[in-house]
Amino acid sequence: MSVPHRPPTNSLQSRRSPLLVFAGQSNRPLAQAICDNLGVPLGRSETVKFTNDNLIVHYEESLREGDVFIVQTFSTPVSDAIMELMLMIDAAKSASAGRVTAVIPYYSYARSDKKDSPRISIAGRLVADLLQEAGADRILTMTLHAPQVHGFFKVPVDHLSADLVLSEHFKKCVPDAHDGVVLAPDAGSIKRASQIARRLDSGLAMIDKERLSDTEVRPRALIGDVKGKTVFIVDDEISTAGSLVETVNIAREMGAKDVYVAVTHGVYTGPAIQRIAGLDVTQVASCNTVHVPESKIEGANGRLAVLDVAPLFANAIRNIHTGDSVSTLFS
Ligand code: R5P
Repeated sequence: MSVPHRPPTNSLQSRRSPLLVFAGQSNRPLAQAICDNLGVPLGRSETVKFTNDNLIVHYEESLREGDVFIVQTFSTPVSDAIMELMLMIDAAKSASAGRVTAVIPYYSYARSDKKDSPRISIAGRLVADLLQEAGADRILTMTLHAPQVHGFFKVPVDHLSADLVLSEHFKKCVPDAHDGVVLAPDAGSIKRASQIARRLDSGLAMIDKERLSDTEVRPRALIGDVKGKTVFIVDDEISTAGSLVETVNIAREMGAKDVYVAVTHGVYTGPAIQRIAGLDVTQVASCNTVHVPESKIEGANGRLAVLDVAPLFANAIRNIHTGDSVSTLFS
C-alpha cells in the first residue's frame, strides 16, 4: 500500500523565533523607547513585592521559543533590580524561551572589579555568575567601568559604547568643537577621552590624581593645555559628582573658557544634584541608561541634559536577533 504524499504545511515548518522585549521596573521609559525604535510592543509582565519583601514576576504572554530581551538597568534600589532581573530570566527559561538576553544599560557592579582591599568580594564577577546561573544566554550592556569586566562573563557580551552619542552632542553644542580640549578626569578614562577627541578632532588633556586613602583622591596636576579653551569633560559615570567637582575646579584654575560635561551614566546619588547646581559649567549631560526623574532635572538649575541611547540599543537588539554584526554600530 502506497503512502499518500503530503506537502509540508506551514505549521510544521520551523518558524524564526519571535523578537520579544520585556522590562523590569528600573528603567521602563528606556525600554519603551527601545521598543518604539524597534516597532514592537513592550511585552506584558508584572512584578509584585510581597509584604515580606519577596518579589514575584509573572509574564502575561507566551514566550515559547521566543528570542527574549529583558531590559533592566542597575539603578537604585540596585539589589531589587538585580533580583528582579534574575527572576525574569529564570521565569523566561522556565516558560520555554528560545534564548534570553539580559539588556543591562548600566552594570553598576562593574566598579567592583578587583580585590583592592583585603577580605572583600569582587562583586562584578559575582553578579555575572548569578545572571548566568539564572539562565542568561547573552548580555547587552553599555560603557562598563572597565572594559575587562566583559571577561567576567562566559556567555557572549555585546558591550556598546556611548562615545558617538557624546561626541555628536558636543558638536551640536559647540560648532567649533575642534578648537576645544577633551579632558580625562583620571588615567582610567584617558582611552575614552582620546577616542572622543579623535571624533571631535580636538585637543586632549588629563588630570593626574593622587590617592590619599581608599575613598579619597586629590587632583595633583593637569597634563595638557586648557587655557582659554572650551573644555569637554567625559567620564563613564557621575555618582556623587565628587570627581566632577574636582575636575571642573582644576580646569577653571588652569584657565578653561567654558566647560561642558558628558558621561554615559548619570547616577546622581547623594549630594550630586546640589553639587551640579552650584558648578561652574555650561551643561552636564548623561545618557538615559539610568532614568533621571524630573525632580532631579529641576534641582540642577537647568544644567542637566539627557541624551537618548534607545536607538543604539534598538539597533543592537535588531542585529543580535538577525545575527548581524553589532560592532558596525560603533562607526
Ligand atoms: C572613577 O573611576 C569613575 O570613572 C568616575 O569618575 C566615578 O565613578 C564618579 O564617581 P563620583 O561621581 O562619586 O565621584
